[in-house]
Order: sequence, then C-alpha cells, then structure tokens
Amino acid sequence: MSASPLDLNVSNNAEIKGLPDFLVHQLKDILWTEKFLRRQMSEIRSYVTSARLRMGIENHMKEIDKQIWRLEEVFLVINEPVQMQPNVGLKALVQDAMKTIKATKLGSMVRDVCIINCLQKVEHYEIASYGTLKTLAIVLGHPQAADLLEQTLNEEKNADAIFSTIAEVFINEQAAGE
Ligand SMILES: [Fe+2]
Repeated sequence: MSASPLDLNVSNNAEIKGLPDFLVHQLKDILWTEKFLRRQMSEIRSYVTSARLRMGIENHMKEIDKQIWRLEEVFLVINEPVQMQPNVGLKALVQDAMKTIKATKLGSMVRDVCIINCLQKVEHYEIASYGTLKTLAIVLGHPQAADLLEQTLNEEKNADAIFSTIAEVFINEQAAGE
C-alpha cells in the first residue's frame, strides 16, 4: 500500500527553543493542514446542493494547490527542509463538521448552510495562522517568505468573503424556507 501524501515528511514534535523554531513548527502544521483540506474539499464537494457553492469550492481547491506550492517555497527561502506535522485539532473540527453535514437532508439548502459554516471555520483558522506566519517571517528577517505568506493570507480572506456572499445571496433564505 502506498503512503498517503499526508504521511510523507511528517516530523515529530521537536522542542521549540525560540521564535525561529516556532515559525518552522507553524509552517509544518499549516502545510499538513492544506494537504488535508485539499483532500477533504473533494469529499465536501460531493455533498453540495447548489452549483454556486460547488463552483466556489472548486475555485478554492485550485487556490489550495497554489498555497501548497507557496508553502514549499517558504521552506526553501528560509533554508529549512519541507516537513509537515499532523494538525489534530483542525482534523477533529473537520471530521466533526462532516458528521453534521451528513446528518442534513440530501439535496437541501440547509446542507449547504452547514457546509459553508464548516468552510468558514476553516478559513478563519487559516487567516489566523497565515497572519501569524507573515508577522513572524517579517520579525525574523525573511521578507521573501513574508511576501509569499501574505499572498496566501489575502487568498484566504477573499475565499472567506466569497463564501459569505454565496450564503447571503443564494443559500440562506432558501434554506430558511425549506
Ligand atoms: Fe488555504
């Protein structure tokens, strides 16, 4: 059996002696998170009711591919090996949300409300993570890494805003009427 991409280059929890170690620790965490989300988004897409939301998810999946590439670049520019660390908390959040999504009625807008809620919880986690990472990269003298992290931070904010608009314009009222 071949190893899942989520099992490759996984490092053990090393001691954090200073801010550079914390930066690397958080980079490992968010790289694993992006790869996990890329896989989960494919599954979530299969539960979606509305075409608008499906399109929003597919667009963000393409962004995740770019975000994974950017993170690998960040490891390179700060001279660290590309590694990942499983993010147990985020995994539990998504798995819990998947159970709730599956408990909603197939083909309902309530299901889409539930999916958007899951996606936005994740986006807010990522916005917090990339905001911290960008700031740490600046403080530690890695302007090129900070620039890459800021590009992803802006994409995450934009994705969050798009999911809000989809919910407000196309989903919430229909869900309330079901
Ligand atoms: Fe992301």
